[in-house]
Amino acid sequence: MQLIPRSPFLDVLRAARQLEAQGKSVIYLSVGEPDFATPGNIKHEGIRAIERGDTRYTAMDGTPALKNAIITKFQRDNGLDFRPNEVTVTSGGTQAIFNSMLATVGPGDEVILPAPFFQPYLSAIHFAGGTPVLVQSREENGFVPTADDIEAAITGNTRWVILNSPSNPTGAVIDPANLDEIARMLRKYPDVMILSDDIYESIVFNDEGFSNILNVAPDLRQRTVILNGVSKAYAMTGWRVGYLAGPSPVIEAISQVSASSTFTPCSITQAAAVEALTGSQELVAERCQIYKKRRDIVFDGISTIPELTIVKPQGAFYAFPGCAGLLGRKTPEGKTITSDLDVALHLLESEGLAVVNGTASGTPGYIRLAFATSDVILHDAIRRLRSACAKLV
Ligand SMILES: Cc1ncc(COP(=O)(O)O)c(C=O)c1O
Repeated sequence: MQLIPRSPFLDVLRAARQLEAQGKSVIYLSVGEPDFATPGNIKHEGIRAIERGDTRYTAMDGTPALKNAIITKFQRDNGLDFRPNEVTVTSGGTQAIFNSMLATVGPGDEVILPAPFFQPYLSAIHFAGGTPVLVQSREENGFVPTADDIEAAITGNTRWVILNSPSNPTGAVIDPANLDEIARMLRKYPDVMILSDDIYESIVFNDEGFSNILNVAPDLRQRTVILNGVSKAYAMTGWRVGYLAGPSPVIEAISQVSASSTFTPCSITQAAAVEALTGSQELVAERCQIYKKRRDIVFDGISTIPELTIVKPQGAFYAFPGCAGLLGRKTPEGKTITSDLDVALHLLESEGLAVVNGTASGTPGYIRLAFATSDVILHDAIRRLRSACAKLV
């Protein structure tokens, strides 16, 4: 357990539960999951799988039907061709991260992780015995990690560069021009592998749509692994299906780790995931438009709070406002705010607003708000945020 850093966010969550138990209203903008229901056609396929007796172990790297569905999805959405031995299914995207690191990273290996990051990356790298090398993305660049900053972190021990676009927690999207710069730089380092976490690909607000590094640099295919899953696009966070596609030796190694831990992914959810990936995609696009409207509510609202800074999120369902302007101020009770954790605790205690502090994602001085919730709740949350900031003097 000493290898896994404890997230300070857990303190916020515990305090929130305590407040709720005391009868106080708490708005949770802390959880990164869609508020939508899993679409009916997908749920139905899960039920059908149970009824027809798909209740046994499956192939360790996923059912042939799901692997085919994943291959179809990559062709349809990403213009990428994979063979079945280049795809493996995991019990959620988080397990895909964990098993990728366990399969490929050991003591002495370095993994370049742009910060702020999705926290399980840090745990997985540590757990595998590797060394995370954080590259801070900057607010003035819209939180897009730059090729120069990544290059400055590369050493002879670098095993992976991790790219997550759209990003959790910033909502930053690495556009094709930036991807091209990163690809040009990486061509100089042929031993470095690239993990492209595309889990928010269906939630992109620009008109150009989504691109990953293989779209701009197909020549990097032999050292790129794409990570994706059904949690966010299809509101299936509880079903636990993720997947990886990339060079077969890496994919096979990851499958072996999965086989040693969970043996096989769940038979029922795999059947449902086939329907998610190959059934109608209309709802996915509709929901993206809803997220965009919510993004606008949150961005417009925070833009008018003088104590905070905000970069317009280009995808996913997170806003990552800067709260450095609140440091050094005092709460009405006389407590001095000295960190983003103090800001998060103040938002919670004074207005019942639960958010994640930036330090939990490797970037102090910020807070993360997940806007995967209704317009009414978001308007209320912005009102609470404004009021809590104004109380600090
Ligand atoms: C960037 C990123 N990658 C991967 C995941 C994993 O999602 P899941 O384990 O639900 O498939 C998440 C979930 O929040 C995420 O934010």
